[in-house]
Amino acid sequence: MNTMFRVTGFFAAVLMSGSLMAQNCELTIDSNDQMRYDKDQLTVSSECSEVTLTLTHSGQMSVEQMGHNWVLAESGDVQAIAQDGIGAGLENDYVKPGDDRVIAATEQIGGGESTSITFSLEGLEAGGDYEFFCSFPGHVALMRGDFIIE
Ligand code: CU
Repeated sequence: MNTMFRVTGFFAAVLMSGSLMAQNCELTIDSNDQMRYDKDQLTVSSECSEVTLTLTHSGQMSVEQMGHNWVLAESGDVQAIAQDGIGAGLENDYVKPGDDRVIAATEQIGGGESTSITFSLEGLEAGGDYEFFCSFPGHVALMRGDFIIE
């Protein structure tokens, strides 16, 4: 009986830690017609084998007027990626095709839409200097936040 209790307790602990980790690997962020995200910081565990980010747009404006995406990069690359993204145009979601400074990027969405992307943390460092931002022309000034891997 004593052994039985220990075994059950072990599996309960495994299940609990499993669900906690899974929760921390799923991120959501909203965006709006005021050119803002609803979060300026996102945190994930370095133990996540994959991270899924879901971006929603709770506004009403079209993707041409007030499109938003979610781009992840090293902080030092953000301005250059955003600058190059302007030239890439909406047909490329304002991300230069093949830009290897981009760690992950969603498509551009308009009001009422949502999108998600799943990516690996492989090659990224816990405690590293990463940021997320919107690459729609001009939006990086207001739509930018810290991506923390702990
Ligand atoms: Cu935007």
